[in-house]
Amino acid sequence: MQSFKDKVVVVTGGASGIGKSLARAFLGEGAKVVISDVEQGALDRTASELSAQGGTLRAIVTNVSKPDSVNALADAVFEEFGACHVLCNNAGVSVPNNNVWDTTPNDWQWVLGVNLRGIAHGIQAFVPRMLASGEEGIVMNTSSGDGGISPLADQSVYASSKAGVSIMTECLNAQLVGQNTRLRACIFYPSGGILPTGIWTTKRNRPAELAREKPAPDGAEMTFEEFMSGMKDIGIELPVQDLDELAQFALNGLREGDFVIMIGRESMEETLVERARKLARGQCPIEHGLHG
Ligand SMILES: NC(=O)c1ccc[n+]([C@@H]2O[C@H](COP(=O)([O-])OP(=O)(O)OC[C@H]3O[C@@H](n4cnc5c(N)ncnc54)[C@H](O)[C@@H]3O)[C@@H](O)[C@H]2O)c1
Repeated sequence: MQSFKDKVVVVTGGASGIGKSLARAFLGEGAKVVISDVEQGALDRTASELSAQGGTLRAIVTNVSKPDSVNALADAVFEEFGACHVLCNNAGVSVPNNNVWDTTPNDWQWVLGVNLRGIAHGIQAFVPRMLASGEEGIVMNTSSGDGGISPLADQSVYASSKAGVSIMTECLNAQLVGQNTRLRACIFYPSGGILPTGIWTTKRNRPAELAREKPAPDGAEMTFEEFMSGMKDIGIELPVQDLDELAQFALNGLREGDFVIMIGRESMEETLVERARKLARGQCPIEHGLHG
């Protein structure tokens, strides 16, 4: 897709972080943007902030883990705009770092419900209508290098969900290409440095009915500021990635027709080769997580 001018773009999880920056970037290129999010207050604040830059913006409360809610989003988008050209399945959540045996049923229910099934719900609600329109379109699914490329051992729930996102997207794109459609799917791996997004306070979005059944271990949850200052204390200065630059990079990747959109994509080759080598030798490809 060469230009986003007048294209209809839907961004889930658009109230904060990467989704908000994606929405801002699409708006800046003249797209009609629909941001959707489960967090009403943040959605309203972001809508009024982004609206100030002009253009067409709508904000619709949606819970991606609920098929009916995502279908209602698609109904509203097609009713008002008659199309969706770019679907960014971006909403995501995470749970505290843990040994797999200390994760809980609700950890899995919540994270897989939003990160993995949420993306399936987006595809189910939008892709048939995007196909029926006969227009060119793209589904961009937000994965993570943590799982999509190589997992951090301590983040088993999140990494499992993101590995699933990457595989689902490969399957989807193969089907869209194989069936001669005008749609494509691609994977977005946010990267480039530490990302100052709301994921650090992700538990704000955790529904009471899926609360963790036992307390998180000490040190398993920290804010962006706590993490950065902890790193600084041990002499590590980590680069912070600007979110608007990251979003612009994603739009450029979409324009280029890249299947994998990732700052520093070339660096994944060695990681994947090493991973493949170890697996082919019958070894576990990861040795330890953040806490070794
Ligand atoms: N921040 C990182 O380091 C990083 C790295 C790789 C991938 N990602 C992925 O990027 C995406 C965006 O995350 P972010 O880092 O900007 O965090 P964020 O918390 O700022 O944004 C996520 C958004 O998703 C929304 N959301 C949560 N549950 C939802 C639900 N059930 N339905 C609809 N919306 C829901 C949140 O309210 C929030 O606005 C996620 O998929 C995340 O996994 C983040």
